[in-house]
This record gives sequence, C-alpha cells and structure tokens, in this order.
Amino acid sequence: MPDVRALRDAFAERYGIHPRLIVRAPGRVNLIGEHTDYNEGFVLPIAIDRSTFVAARARTDRIVRVYSAQFAAEDVFSLDQIERNPDQPWSNYVRGMVKGLLARDLPLVGSDLLIDSDVPLGGGLSSSAALEVATGYALQLLNNADLLGEELALLAQGAENSFVGMQCGIMDQFMATLGRAGHALLLDCRDLSYRAIPIPPDVRVVVCDSGVRHSLLGSAYNERRAACQEAVRLLRTRLPKITALRDVSPEQLAANADLLPPAVLPRARHVVSEIRRTLMAAAALERGDLAAFGTLMLESHRSLRDDYEVSVPELDTLVELARALPGCYGSRLTGGGFGGSTVSLVAVGAVEDFAAGLVAGYRERLGLDAHVLVCTASEGVSRAATF
Ligand code: GLA
Repeated sequence: MPDVRALRDAFAERYGIHPRLIVRAPGRVNLIGEHTDYNEGFVLPIAIDRSTFVAARARTDRIVRVYSAQFAAEDVFSLDQIERNPDQPWSNYVRGMVKGLLARDLPLVGSDLLIDSDVPLGGGLSSSAALEVATGYALQLLNNADLLGEELALLAQGAENSFVGMQCGIMDQFMATLGRAGHALLLDCRDLSYRAIPIPPDVRVVVCDSGVRHSLLGSAYNERRAACQEAVRLLRTRLPKITALRDVSPEQLAANADLLPPAVLPRARHVVSEIRRTLMAAAALERGDLAAFGTLMLESHRSLRDDYEVSVPELDTLVELARALPGCYGSRLTGGGFGGSTVSLVAVGAVEDFAAGLVAGYRERLGLDAHVLVCTASEGVSRAATF
C-alpha cells in the first residue's frame, strides 16, 4: 500500500512544499451482476482494500500540475482550457474530473497533485473509478466544496462517459465513493438505493488477475451497451411501458424473442437473467447459503461467456481451475471482461491452498502468471491525512 508519509515526502520533493491533504479511494470487485448497471439493474460489489491515493495542495493560479508515481509522468494544464491529452491517457481521468467540477460552477483554484495507487491497472478492479473519485474528493476538499456521496459518484461517471469516452455504468464510481467495510452492497442502479449485506466471516473474496489486457475494451463495451439499447427499442413495440432491460423478465424476453435479431437476443438474455441471478445471490448471501451463491456465480460466468461474449480463454481457464479446487464455492469473471480478473468465493481455511493451486494450474495449462489478491471489503473514499 502506498505509505502516507512516503507520499507526503515525494510530494514535498517534487513541489517544494508539503501537501495540504491526502485522500484515498478504493478499487472494487463485483461479486455478481455484470453488465447490468447500465441496464438499470442490480449489482453486488465490494470496495476492496486496494486504493488510489491523491496528495494535493491548492495553488494561487489556474494551473493544475499532476504527477503519477505509477507512470513516472507529469501532466500540466490550465483550468481555462481542458482537453483530452492523447499522450497521457491516465491523466484524462483527472482532467475529466476537473472539467466536471468546473461545469458544476465550483470556483476551483489550481492545484498540485501527486497520485499513487496499488489498484492493479487494467485488472478489472476499477483503477480508473478510484482515480476519478479520489481526485474529485481531494479537489472538493481543497476548494471547500460540498460534493459528496452519490453526487460525487455521478460526477465521476459523467467524466468517464463524456470526457474519457467509456460509456460505463455507475457501479465502479459508486463503490469507490460509498463502499462499506465488511459488506457487499446490493445496489439498485435505477435509483441508487442499496442494501449492505455482511460478508460471512467464514469466506474470503479471492481475486485472480489473469494478466491479460485488452485494448479494445472501450469499443467492445460501448457496442454491448448499444445492443442493449437496441433490444429495448425493439421490445417496446410490444412492451411499450419498458424503458430499460431492467423492466423485462426472462419469461417476457423468451415470449418476445422473435422481435430481436440473432446478434441482439443473447445480449438481452444475459442481462435479464443476470439481474435475476443477482437478486437471488443477494438473498443467498443473506441467509448464508454459500453453495447457492457459488452456483449462481458459475451460471453468471457461463452467461457472460456464451451470451454476452465478454470472456477470453484465460478467464475461462481460471474459472474452470477454481471450481475444481477444494473450498471454492464459485468463480466468475469480474468487471467489464476481455481480460482482467476473476473473483472466487473460498472457505477461509482453504484460501492458501486455493491461491497456490490456481497459480500453479494456470502456469501449467497456459504458461502464464496469475496474481492472486485476497480482498477485504473496505470503506469508500476518505481522507487519509491532513497536514
Ligand atoms: C465496467 C464498467 C461498469 C460495469 C462493468 C460490467 O467495470 O465500468 O460500469 O458496467 O464494466 O459490469
């Protein structure tokens, strides 16, 4: 984990003065409910104990200087002209947040920022949402604004949609903002109401990063989203009251399947079945039925692989290996897909052997290195230090 004192010192070395404050925002792992958020459905994620840190100090001019320790790179821009920077893609999350805050008529001053993170980049754990939310939180504290909770999450999502160009839903930003220690949140992405469900003490949430990164994630993701919108448009000819796939039951979809072209039907089938699975999984977790929960995770993975087509062979291999290992209740790809990570639910006593077995199996089958993270459900964004 980036050490707060080391961050303070790195900031001082770079900018010649200590930061005013340091904030942190966590990554997330979704237990179930994938590609449902932008269909106004349900998700069941936890915020994880890996975070992005932003050290910050206000300036007296209108310049923002931002340094990324991970990329060992700096970006500088003026509050009066904020455009996408194609040379420093990581910085666009910062630029987008600043632009979003200005669009809310917050009278921002310039700032010096230093960023460090232990959320794996591109690993499907929402490093980008963590960066957006940490940046937004730091800036609103520096500027004595009052933009908290879901307002901050929505602003971050808006920055990613309109500035970065990824048409993501609200899940990642919501968790980076409002995650709850020890709990998963069953989040209704239609109205942002949620229920916190404790993670039972006898299981661990185990993430396994496949090491695979897919540069087409953004365009493939936006394509999936467009297919869902197309499904709604066509289904409305017979079901005029629906406004999102959230409003369609699996039975209704089956009865109206003839309305959808072959490229669209499986996409809609994944979404409507996944929303149902998510609600069933939340109920199973609440009654401590981990076996039922695990079965739903495996069904979710199958649906993402066959109907939504966002898996890759490496993720399929990790899920197959995981489900055969002792103590594993279930496993599935997590996040947008096309590489990134799997999530498994594993009995506490079996975690070490599970992790070793998964890494060894992956190397044996594909000759690749997987990285395992045993995650604890953590709090959303917070102030890590004030100086
Ligand atoms: C990405 C997006 C989220 C969500 C997931 C898929 O992580 O940022 O909004 O759509 O993919 O569930």
